[in-house]
Amino acid sequence: MKDRIITTQFTEPDVEIEGSLRPESLDEYIGQEKVKKQMRIFIQAAKNREESLDHVLLYGPPGLGKTTLAGIIANEMGTRIRITSGPAIEKPGDLASVLTSLKAGDVLFIDEIHRMQRAVEEVLYPAMEDFVLDIIIGKGPGAKSIRLDLPRFTLVGATTRAGLLSAPLRDRFGVVQRLELYTNDELAEIVKRSARLLNIALDDAGAEELAMRSRGTPRIANRLLKRVRDYAEIEGKGTIDLKTAKVALTLFEVDAKGLDDIDRLMLRTIVEKFDGGPVGVDTLAAAIGEERGTIEEMYEPYLMQLGYLARTPRGRVITAGGYRHLGLEPAVSENQMAMETLETKETEE
Ligand code: ADE
Repeated sequence: MKDRIITTQFTEPDVEIEGSLRPESLDEYIGQEKVKKQMRIFIQAAKNREESLDHVLLYGPPGLGKTTLAGIIANEMGTRIRITSGPAIEKPGDLASVLTSLKAGDVLFIDEIHRMQRAVEEVLYPAMEDFVLDIIIGKGPGAKSIRLDLPRFTLVGATTRAGLLSAPLRDRFGVVQRLELYTNDELAEIVKRSARLLNIALDDAGAEELAMRSRGTPRIANRLLKRVRDYAEIEGKGTIDLKTAKVALTLFEVDAKGLDDIDRLMLRTIVEKFDGGPVGVDTLAAAIGEERGTIEEMYEPYLMQLGYLARTPRGRVITAGGYRHLGLEPAVSENQMAMETLETKETEE
């Protein structure tokens, strides 16, 4: 996959960007109003009862702030956070050593929890449910199982693919929250906050332009902010205003709606090779040389939010909005064409 400035994947430069910009409390966290409202209640109730918070599953497209939110949950509970990920926990023993190092109330954050090995997942079930760890010592007929008590911790799991989670794992989360793509107003607020923290001169119109091209994703908004600042310092007057933002983002091949050449290739492929659709996602993936998962996770959510692409039971279809974005006339449906043919014939006769 080629490097995209608008990728939602966490890239090396994001470590520094996101580290310095992460909000630390729910009050500082912009957007996701429904999630914040509910989490405030659950956190306060757990604190009042002096209990640990129930396990929380956060799901939704990448780059929306799942790790940030896990950190905030720990802060608001007044506890520590341990951060790991599904693929990083290779063996049941790895998970056992993480679990035994926890203290009561700690948040254990497991990113990409859908990528955890089955054998590891099985250690997690009793840990989540009864706060115990079953350890098997020895092999064969002489093997013995011993049970260790664990502190009452809170597991915060994050996934971009809730559908890939096994049912037993999903059922063990008391709280399940879906994060949504951000609105342009929320993204504008986020980049303004980031610009303040990073000492970047950004005016309101510049912020709105960055927001519009950030695909509903704070990670992208913050990345574009830094790249456009570079442009403003070298080619402009150092301030990010509307014109600077537009010219810089066009130069970086991010169009007015935040689409890049891969998004446009996907839309164009549906038009040119599949007559506007419906086309099955596997067929589409093969046609543009991407993986199905990448299409479903990274390209489709935003194209659907824009209303350029629709998922139907028979496959993906490009909408009238999608055609117009490519500068094409929306296709006329077969029914409409049949009607028009009829009408032409009638007038001819
Ligand atoms: N940075 C990234 N996501 C954010 C959010 N939701 N609120 C504030 N700053 C952020």
